Amino acid sequence: MTSKSDLSDLSVEDRAALGSGADFWTTKAIGPVGSVTMTDGPHGVRRQAGATDHLGLAQSLPATCFPPAVGLGQSWDRDLVARVGAALGREARGLGVDVLLGPGINIKRDPRGGRNFEYYSEDPHLTGALGAAWVTGVQGAGVGASLKHFAANNAEYDRMRMSSDVDPRPLREIYLRAFAHIVRTARPWTVMCSYNRINGVHAAQNRWLLTDVLRGEWGFDGVVVSDWGAVADRPASVAAGLDLEMPGGNGASDAQVVAAVAAGTLDVSAVDRAAENVARLAARAEAGRALAEDGDTVDAHHRLAREVAGRCVVLLQNENGVLPLAPGRSLAVIGEFAAEPRYQGGGSSHVNPTRLDIPLDEIRALAGTTPVTYSRGFTTDGTDSGALRAEAVAAARAADVAVLFLGVAAAQESEGFDRDDIELPAGQLDLLTEVAQVRPETVVVLAHGGVVRLAPVARAAAAILDGGLVGQAGGGALADVLFGVVNPSARLAETVPMALADVPAYQNFPGEHSHVRYGEGLFVGYRWYDHRAMTVCFPFGHGLSYTTFAYDGLALDAGEYGIRVRVTVTNTGDRAGREVVQVYSGLPGSAVARPVRELTGFAVTAELEPGASEDVSILLARDDLAYWDTRVDRWVLEPGTYRVWVGASSRDLRVSGEVDVAGDQVRVPITLESTLGEALAEPATAAALAEVFGGMAGGFGGGSALGVDMMRMIASIPLNRLAGFGVDADRLAAALDADAP
Ligand code: BGC
Repeated sequence: MTSKSDLSDLSVEDRAALGSGADFWTTKAIGPVGSVTMTDGPHGVRRQAGATDHLGLAQSLPATCFPPAVGLGQSWDRDLVARVGAALGREARGLGVDVLLGPGINIKRDPRGGRNFEYYSEDPHLTGALGAAWVTGVQGAGVGASLKHFAANNAEYDRMRMSSDVDPRPLREIYLRAFAHIVRTARPWTVMCSYNRINGVHAAQNRWLLTDVLRGEWGFDGVVVSDWGAVADRPASVAAGLDLEMPGGNGASDAQVVAAVAAGTLDVSAVDRAAENVARLAARAEAGRALAEDGDTVDAHHRLAREVAGRCVVLLQNENGVLPLAPGRSLAVIGEFAAEPRYQGGGSSHVNPTRLDIPLDEIRALAGTTPVTYSRGFTTDGTDSGALRAEAVAAARAADVAVLFLGVAAAQESEGFDRDDIELPAGQLDLLTEVAQVRPETVVVLAHGGVVRLAPVARAAAAILDGGLVGQAGGGALADVLFGVVNPSARLAETVPMALADVPAYQNFPGEHSHVRYGEGLFVGYRWYDHRAMTVCFPFGHGLSYTTFAYDGLALDAGEYGIRVRVTVTNTGDRAGREVVQVYSGLPGSAVARPVRELTGFAVTAELEPGASEDVSILLARDDLAYWDTRVDRWVLEPGTYRVWVGASSRDLRVSGEVDVAGDQVRVPITLESTLGEALAEPATAAALAEVFGGMAGGFGGGSALGVDMMRMIASIPLNRLAGFGVDADRLAAALDADAP
């Protein structure tokens, strides 16, 4: 590994030059430091051969397009995600890539967010667990990951200037939590800082974020790379903790760094730190390249992509057991997406797939001799589709079951812009209504990157399958689920609300004048809907199976480590299947604002045969139970009796119990700024104050006057204001001094 002394022979100019790219995708080879090749990510390797266009969006070499995070997140399966990561790592290595730019782990704050398809969930625990698995898989193959976009990059609008204005608790508890978990447990080689500002300071220039928190608190030892084009002031970024500016410019920012050092406005140690980190990355890449390659992966990875996609498809609704499709029932397949699938998102993550499964062909393959008709039904460009609709309705009437592929077209959602609404196109909904009228056995299959409003679909359709975007083998996987070759086990990683106006960030999205206020605070996603007891269309964690599961034998134990949850899950139906066991916890009567319950653990059972059981043990780690205490600026596990719920979704909680947690004692020093209530809550201070108040008529000990509890009236008075009420200020100060530790 390149050591510090290796770089001491390099000039300041060379050390500065190590901190910016050679071109769009590579770093410079200088002295003992080799070049590193990066590319997108996250659900496939977007390796561009030869010259790249200035945005890097030109056609790339063929690579497996696995389900994007919107689909993969619905698997809720760490092992599966790690296998995808390992496959991506192998492909990246085969294509000469050292660092794959992913995973994207920003929180889906609002369903309109244009890049939500690249992110896993509205929940930080689920995001952190799956993101860590992805990083571990990729890096196990000798290829580095790049955790992105750091941080609070939750919308596309004005993305290079926007300031995400977030209070400390939601910043820590929602938006940084998954980053912290992955940095600590999976040790990514790089972290990519985002375009936006956080509370007014550009991520790329944010010393608090890049140095104090990322390196200081979390122990990050890799390279902080900028998002492509995110650096506005390179010397300021280097000082803040940025190591590598991408892509490469014309050397102008290297010269600015050298000039700043010469002028004494930038400490040379910051340039050295950046150069050493880039050198360490180059050494890691070199070691990774030495791992053996697997050779041709196309067939094996396409098969894996199909298996994975099958685990990403959520069965949202299934009335009268219309799914799985019974053998011999004729099918009317309807909708352009059945013949031209929408399977990945637009922008920098767009992969050139090695092959593509067409759902219609895969359905026909599994249907065997059963008749399958196809009608286009609608156009995705919004042109009149009356004739197409009439043809589709006639086909549905003539068949036993209608399978309707609906969704959002590629042009309607992508990196670079947010959506204005969450509606499916009106023409598609009209088609659904007419089809369902003539064919009650209507199954809807959805394709979309961001959440869509599903209330009208749920009303009309008997069954709904929703994989989000399912990658190049999704066509085969959808057929597998439709016919019951795969028993669905996926779960929503994001709530489907009844209406856009219900969503927590509704009034604070996308922001204005380059500021967006995260006014909903901690109450993101299901945390909001549950807190306000709102009806949702499909809750977070929801997903049906072709079998059923029972939960029993809940046992809870608390200790230094957190809470250990044990439960037995039994397959009570007549098909083999997997269950995603979700654990939520809450602290009723907490002294701070808290969601009713939060996901703090989950596990996926093995595929259980009918009648089979699995004893599931899940640890709710202390870190996941803690909240960010703004009085002391650290994580605190509040003592108390925690409630723990275990179930099949955030609104399908099967068993629950309570457990006492000793927690952390936080002693905030009592000063003259403290309120009377705060002072009296500390036994030692209360005793000292009792003497001061003892001499006063009536004291402050309570009693009632004017029909109200006196203590409730006066508890919020700061001690230093009591002088105005006749308390001897000197005696008060002396009492506090006597109590000081
Ligand atoms: C995106 C990143 C991507 C980079 C390189 C940026 O515009 O925000 O996610 O990795 O481009 O393509």
